[in-house]
Amino acid sequence: MTSNFCPVKKIRVKASGEYDVLIGRNLLDNIGSLIKEVAGSCKIALVTDDTVNALYADKVLLSLKNAGYTAVKFVFPHGEQSKNLNVYGQILNFLAENEITRTDCLVALGGGVVGDMAGFAAASFLRGIKYVQIPTTLLSQIDSSVGGKTAIDLPLGKNLVGAFKQPALVVCDVDTLSSLPKEIFIDGMGEAAKYALLDKKVYYLICGGEYAIEELVYLSIDYKRRVVETDEFESGLRKLLNLGHTPAHGIENLSGYTIPHGRAVAMGLDIILNASFKRGYISKNDYVNMLSAVKKCVGENICPYEIEKIATAALSDKKRSGDYITVIAVHGVEDCRPEKIKVIELAEYLK
Ligand SMILES: NC(=O)c1ccc[n+]([C@@H]2O[C@H](COP(=O)([O-])OP(=O)(O)OC[C@H]3O[C@@H](n4cnc5c(N)ncnc54)[C@H](O)[C@@H]3O)[C@@H](O)[C@H]2O)c1
Repeated sequence: MTSNFCPVKKIRVKASGEYDVLIGRNLLDNIGSLIKEVAGSCKIALVTDDTVNALYADKVLLSLKNAGYTAVKFVFPHGEQSKNLNVYGQILNFLAENEITRTDCLVALGGGVVGDMAGFAAASFLRGIKYVQIPTTLLSQIDSSVGGKTAIDLPLGKNLVGAFKQPALVVCDVDTLSSLPKEIFIDGMGEAAKYALLDKKVYYLICGGEYAIEELVYLSIDYKRRVVETDEFESGLRKLLNLGHTPAHGIENLSGYTIPHGRAVAMGLDIILNASFKRGYISKNDYVNMLSAVKKCVGENICPYEIEKIATAALSDKKRSGDYITVIAVHGVEDCRPEKIKVIELAEYLK
């Protein structure tokens, strides 16, 4: 990938809360002054996981100090297994013990797990305090940090408790992506593949050969911005962001969550493309080209499970409503459409 992108790009998201998303390099060194613009003088509660803490927390704390902030820090063990009621409760207690008030600001530094859980803490503590997202994985930069969905998991399923709460600012420093293990980077590329099928600009960027990662982050967020601005609370258009997610949910479930989310989404996209081709929604040529775009993102992508099993496991998806489930079908690049099908027909549909 080349890196000839201009320094800092800004996307303004106009949802129930309005905020900027900044995309660039070397932004962590200036994070204190960037936060000052949206939070003013206040106390900062920094929430991060142990991996990201070791990599970036000192830099962030130094910049906060240079901007005149007093900051307290909460660190929890990395990974999806931490996104639970227990750690969420610990964050709330930490905020209370440190006398964080309604005028203070929470800063979430890390991947989607940190962002989702810290965001939910910010949404619920004192009925809502300001928060800033500093996403450090590709998945969290292109997807989870923007749009205001916050959540934690319950033993019975992922993201079952949460709230919509828009951040005050999102800062995507793409330099942080350089420390990501390859598999975690590829995981984010699974979500990028989804954007490629939803948005022609992302599709042509990915199919066009070399590109700067900042550009992929920028275009993906800009697509998500358009969706969130039109349908913040997911009553219509935002459902398109679930493209590939119904089979992905089944795949993650069957693997006991050892296949990561973005990788499962990429497998889910292949399944949906196949189903869309078989139903005559896309031509053979388009089908092959779109499969190739997914492959360009994640490489070889072989799903280890049979469709029947995936369909059964997918039925615990919260997008299911009664006897029906909504699947997003592909009719072309940037032409994806929700399709409501009977739960009992899902396996047949996905074959
Ligand atoms: N809110 C939304 O709209 C939304 C959308 C998609 C996904 N999600 C959620 O996002 C979560 C997945 O996010 P994720 O993939 O970022 O997982 P994650 O937060 O668990 O991060 C993956 C791993 O990478 C490590 N890491 C993070 N940044 C790093 C860096 N710069 N260098 C090295 N290691 C780093 C983390 O410590 C962790 O071990 C899931 O819980 C999912 O439900 C939310």
